[in-house]
Amino acid sequence: MLDTTNPSASPSCWWAPSSPTNGSRCRRWIPVFFSGNLCATHKTFFAVLSVVLFSTFFYWQFDATSGGFSVFRRAFPSRELPRLRRVAFNLTDFGGVGDGVTLNTEAFEKAVAAISKLRGKGGGQLNVPPGNWLTAPFNLTSHMTLFLAEGAVILGINDENYWPLMPPLPSYGHGREHAGPRYGSLIHGQNLNDIVITGHNGTINGQGQMWWKKYRQKLLNHTRGPLVQIMWSSNILISNITLQDSPFWTLHPYDCKNVTIKNLTILAPTRGAPNTDGIDPDSCEDMVIEDCYISVGDDGIAIKSGWDQYGIAYGRPSTNILIRNLVVRSVVSAGISIGSEMSGGVSNITVENIHIWNSRRGVRIKTAPGRGAYVRQIRYRNITFDDLRVGIVVKTDYNEHPDIGFDPKAFPILEDISYTSIHGEGVRVPVRLQGTEEIPVKNVMFQDMSVGLTDIKKHVFQCAFVQGRVIGTVFPPPCENLDLYDEQGHLVKESVSQNVSDIDYSF
Ligand SMILES: *[C@@H]1O[C@H](CO)[C@@H](O)[C@H](O)[C@H]1NC(C)=O
Ligand SMILES: *[C@@H]1O[C@H](CO)[C@@H](O)[C@H](O)[C@H]1NC(C)=O
Ligand SMILES: *[C@@H]1O[C@H](CO)[C@@H](O)[C@H](O)[C@H]1NC(C)=O
Ligand SMILES: *[C@@H]1O[C@H](CO)[C@@H](O)[C@H](O)[C@H]1NC(C)=O
Ligand SMILES: *[C@@H]1O[C@H](CO)[C@@H](O)[C@H](O)[C@H]1NC(C)=O
Ligand SMILES: *[C@@H]1O[C@H](CO)[C@@H](O)[C@H](O)[C@H]1NC(C)=O
Ligand SMILES: *[C@@H]1O[C@H](CO)[C@@H](O)[C@H](O)[C@H]1NC(C)=O
Ligand SMILES: *[C@@H]1O[C@H](CO)[C@@H](O)[C@H](O)[C@H]1NC(C)=O
Ligand SMILES: *[C@@H]1O[C@H](CO)[C@@H](O)[C@H](O)[C@H]1NC(C)=O
Ligand SMILES: *[C@@H]1O[C@H](CO)[C@@H](O)[C@H](O)[C@H]1NC(C)=O
Repeated sequence: MLDTTNPSASPSCWWAPSSPTNGSRCRRWIPVFFSGNLCATHKTFFAVLSVVLFSTFFYWQFDATSGGFSVFRRAFPSRELPRLRRVAFNLTDFGGVGDGVTLNTEAFEKAVAAISKLRGKGGGQLNVPPGNWLTAPFNLTSHMTLFLAEGAVILGINDENYWPLMPPLPSYGHGREHAGPRYGSLIHGQNLNDIVITGHNGTINGQGQMWWKKYRQKLLNHTRGPLVQIMWSSNILISNITLQDSPFWTLHPYDCKNVTIKNLTILAPTRGAPNTDGIDPDSCEDMVIEDCYISVGDDGIAIKSGWDQYGIAYGRPSTNILIRNLVVRSVVSAGISIGSEMSGGVSNITVENIHIWNSRRGVRIKTAPGRGAYVRQIRYRNITFDDLRVGIVVKTDYNEHPDIGFDPKAFPILEDISYTSIHGEGVRVPVRLQGTEEIPVKNVMFQDMSVGLTDIKKHVFQCAFVQGRVIGTVFPPPCENLDLYDEQGHLVKESVSQNVSDIDYSF
């Protein structure tokens, strides 16, 4: 969810060159890693950095199979679609019309019904050809592959009367925004096995604009629906497509096992698209998320496992999750989050080779009294920060509760969290670990960290109720709460100030 602390701060000058606050902000930047001390030096540096960044982006866009840059390909020559199941259908076989106006709900439903009859025969594939396929929400079936051709766009209808209401998720007790039922997702599945959603970079577009507007105007009586939600299912592969403009969270795997998410582009406006998280693994086990580009209006990824007393009762953790090789941007929230709803527990998470840019927060763990459970065995490795407000965050007072029935004494346990090879530039506060007496942060480890600052300030490695260690040298210099070890693992200085607080929200 959106972090609302310090809402008045403005973006840095590189990303908002015409902003009136520009000059003053630029002058305040003090070089840390680079010689020179004038704003101009910084402008040059950031100009070079942006060239490097955009080259990286174009490199990433390079399509090795066709030897061209996909952004420059405009027409969609009919590319042979792979046969991934014994039986393949074409949406047009069921009366689909891809004119962007005709409603194709019935075509999708008929196709799904045809595939559901092929269960014992390896299932079926539904090809969605190039075109704009407007539809209301529909359900998937087991042993199904939904294949989106290049230029195929599934468009969600922007009229809430077509969106079915569903009971709240049991581990949340309520809809996330309103009590009672919630809208279902555009593409939905539950109690399924063997689901593939893939393609030649076709798009699922939720046309979220209507939803965001009505949400802001408080015209909705129910929680908005995700773009794609798969519940109580296993063996899921979602790859090689684009997900765009979701009404709410974009991709929500809920209480699923064996989920692979690979090579997705997930897009929503970076501002004014409330709660459009990229991917929300929720009470999921054995999951890989890799090779994705995510730029959205809330958290890029938010690992969850239910909300307060409902999540504690449901008791399903998110565990054994590997997240790697992502480029993430979240202007109003965080690149990679855990929580704040984590009441079923979160453990054994690896987050590596991640580039987070132009974001409010980098990697964040958020929780509150009432959540209970634990966040443990979390490893961050090779994370690059590029133009962030705060890099590493642990926040223990995220006080949003489903109702007054939560137990204020249900304190989550936060422990065994490591940060290795954390680098980057343009970060105002690289570390803010805010434990409390009731929710201390235990056994954290920092090794190989160097993060360039936007301002010279004292409080840039902030801690409170934190116990753990630093191995070797890290920059900026660590808070006094941590024990210091040398590279060989010998204790250099043991902390006597684990519970000292140096949290400063003033910048
Ligand atoms: C896929 O399509 C999206 C949206 O059009 C585009 O931004 C992205 O660059 C494409 N990805 C690839 C790998 O072609
Ligand atoms: C689907 O059917 C349409 C209309 O017959 C045809 O133009 C298109 O090539 C078919 N696409 C695939 C992927 O089979
Ligand atoms: C999908 O299935 C669920 C569970 O049966 C149901 O509640 C929901 O209304 C279905 N959605 C659609 C669009 O048919
Ligand atoms: C990623 O998806 C794009 C678009 O479908 C495709 O061209 C590319 O080969 C995929 N890359 C990988 C590593 O699968
Ligand atoms: C919300 O509820 C009010 C009062 O019952 C009703 O007038 C309005 O149409 C509802 N809005 C939606 C989007 O369902
Ligand atoms: C996990 O799911 C994939 C399909 O996404 C499947 O190929 C694989 O066999 C599954 N693994 C296990 C252990 O079931
Ligand atoms: C993604 O697309 C590429 C190029 O079409 C293909 O080689 C690869 O197998 C696909 N990967 C997945 C996981 O679907
Ligand atoms: C932790 O998760 C990884 C997958 O990311 C898995 O390979 C490993 O076995 C898990 N470890 C434990 C102790 O379950
Ligand atoms: C670190 O991550 C970046 C992507 O952010 C990747 O290019 C690089 O190869 C990774 N380095 C290592 C040592 O894995
Ligand atoms: C710090 O506070 C924790 C409780 O949060 C307590 O267990 C621990 O003994 C305290 N440590 C010191 C050094 O005072």
